[in-house]
Amino acid sequence: MARTAELRAEGRDIVSFGAGEPDFPTPANIRAAGARAIEEGRTRYTAVAGVIELRRAITAAYASRWDLAYAPNDVVVTCGAKQALFNALLALLDPGDRVLVPAPYWVSYPEMVKAAGGTPVIVPCRHDDGFRLRPDTLRRLGKGARVLLFNGISNPTGAVHDRGEIAAIAEVARELDLAVVSDEIYENLVYDGADSAAFAAVSADARSRAILVSGVSKTYAMTGWRIGWAAGPSDVIGAMRKLQGQSTSNACSISQWAALEALSGPQDEILAMVVEFQRRRDRMLQLLRAIPGIDVETPGGAFYVMPRVDGFFGRRDGVDDCMSLAAGLLDEAGVAVVPGAPFGAPEHVRLSYACSMEDIERGVQRLASYLSEL
Ligand SMILES: Cc1ncc(COP(=O)(O)O)c(C=O)c1O
Repeated sequence: MARTAELRAEGRDIVSFGAGEPDFPTPANIRAAGARAIEEGRTRYTAVAGVIELRRAITAAYASRWDLAYAPNDVVVTCGAKQALFNALLALLDPGDRVLVPAPYWVSYPEMVKAAGGTPVIVPCRHDDGFRLRPDTLRRLGKGARVLLFNGISNPTGAVHDRGEIAAIAEVARELDLAVVSDEIYENLVYDGADSAAFAAVSADARSRAILVSGVSKTYAMTGWRIGWAAGPSDVIGAMRKLQGQSTSNACSISQWAALEALSGPQDEILAMVVEFQRRRDRMLQLLRAIPGIDVETPGGAFYVMPRVDGFFGRRDGVDDCMSLAAGLLDEAGVAVVPGAPFGAPEHVRLSYACSMEDIERGVQRLASYLSEL
């Protein structure tokens, strides 16, 4: 991203497939709720766990969407989903505890585990298996672990685990007695009517061991407002609340009121955004699949595709891994992609389609000509 900014500052036209956030503006009704909160003076400390109105809206959403009963005290509102993940790990882990991290993983997971004193154990998921976490692999590598850090709708792969797959993973979590931190930040960005589910919704046992993490960042195009949350067993949520009380206190009061409007106001703009993401995904896949040598799964959610590109390594001196391929693409072709190695996927690159249709067409065209000349 830094190199992209540098090249743009030099006047180069760069198409970026690097975005990790929706390119849509936060909807107007939500922006207005934030402005209203300022005008009405809702600018003081709130309860550490968040204002009760927002926590009630969160529990109502879990009840209506997944038939999950949480009390407001089973929820803590955080500074983005990121703080919820971090505090959940801090609350759960003793020094050296093992945490299962399916790969490809979001870059922050192994670092968060280490920062919280745990030891990440990488659980590979295969490209030709749709990047799904398979129960057998989990069972094989999971003995003695304390936590599974699960991202059922994945950044970076876009893979979506359906309800049956989640139930099978939950069964292994029961066998191994794992706590499950389930990162569901992309829960509303699913396509083709995929039958996904909140981890806690697949069984009573799953409900008892899952800490659900989500937020408004991706669904409502609110990445800068920094509102996420965790819902789960009251002892874990209570420990998270204590940690938060002694560190950051409440998430931004103004953003909490905006998030309340996001959850309880009209949802039509959000539905339109999902339709648009699906249209872009389809176009990107169509264009990528026309490039000889590119191998790409159909991602069912989020806004990423993760093609396999290792067939291009070594075709030219200096282009021998995903890092040098991404560097070459940026410098020579003016296309920014994210190399897969930091996600635990060194044969791949990640492309985000949170950009305009025009950029998708121009960018993939450039990618195709660069690769054809290697
Ligand atoms: C898988 C995943 N989890 C969590 C987050 C962070 O969400 P937030 O911005 O709400 O902290 C991201 C953002 O990129 C993400 O991709």
